[in-house]
Amino acid sequence: IKIIGILTSGGDAPGMNAAIRAVTHTALNKGLNVIGIQDGFLGLFKNRMIQLQKSNVSNIINRGGTLLGSARFPEFSQKDIRLTSIKNLYQRKIDALIIIGGDGSYIGAKYLTNMGLPCIGIPGTIDNDVAGTDYSIGYFTALETIVEAIDRLQDTSASHKRISIVEIMGRYCGDLTLAASIAGGCEFIILPEITYTKENLLIDIKKSIKNGKNHAVIAITEHLYDVKKLARYIQEKTKRETRATTLGYIQRGGTPVVYDRILASRMGSYAVKLLLEGYQGRCVGIINEVLVHHDINNALKYMKKPFKSDWLVTAKNLY
Ligand code: F6P
Repeated sequence: IKIIGILTSGGDAPGMNAAIRAVTHTALNKGLNVIGIQDGFLGLFKNRMIQLQKSNVSNIINRGGTLLGSARFPEFSQKDIRLTSIKNLYQRKIDALIIIGGDGSYIGAKYLTNMGLPCIGIPGTIDNDVAGTDYSIGYFTALETIVEAIDRLQDTSASHKRISIVEIMGRYCGDLTLAASIAGGCEFIILPEITYTKENLLIDIKKSIKNGKNHAVIAITEHLYDVKKLARYIQEKTKRETRATTLGYIQRGGTPVVYDRILASRMGSYAVKLLLEGYQGRCVGIINEVLVHHDINNALKYMKKPFKSDWLVTAKNLY
């Protein structure tokens, strides 16, 4: 291997820049060349590539977003688009590719590896929904942002004796919601992994009002309910003022926290090492603080992110 490519794909996540920097520094230090592919798989198809030197990646370890840009590009599932993309890679003499992103990006990595181009995937998403790793890059930063927002909601909910609903990202994974609820002292939690209907929620809210509680914050993962409608429903049934807040894309930006910077730096370096050792079609993870790698096909097909049921028990003990 002489030249490696790197791209970031899917939703951006704080720490992606630290990973780009780690890959670039490690590869250059090993005598390799590094090409950055802009705008994810879309940029690969459109042939948007830049040579990366240490100067390109200086002062980015502390920056949110991704220097290379990112995109959603479902069209990459089409064979002709992949063939053009792979041609672009070979034209630049790129021998291997490191792909930072979530599940969708791993599928892209799998396709390219199967077409003969060695790829390594690095988990980068705030959702923490990638199998084969305890944590993905960006999760801890998003968590800090969310908890800070919940702290603020707690202030205003308490002052007005209101019920607040806070909608949290995570796609179909409740990790962010669950962790943020514990850290933010939320009264109720609605997660994709468990069945908890609005009727159940109402019963619990009414119980807590009876017990003298005069405000509450309900944390809910996106895509489960229309939170504005849910707020109207709760207000109607409890006669308590209820407001909904969707945190939205604020959760994805911002300066990466130290843990994300270190995680991204370790994973980036490790991915280069794996390529140099001849690995391909692998995805990197961290399990109990130790870096690991798995077959991407297995990770996508058979490995499931375990639900932290003990965390939910803890959260409920704290209601
Ligand atoms: O995967 C990260 C994420 O922010 C999810 O939490 C969210 O569901 C999704 O991306 C939003 O995607 P988009 O940026 O395409 O709107």
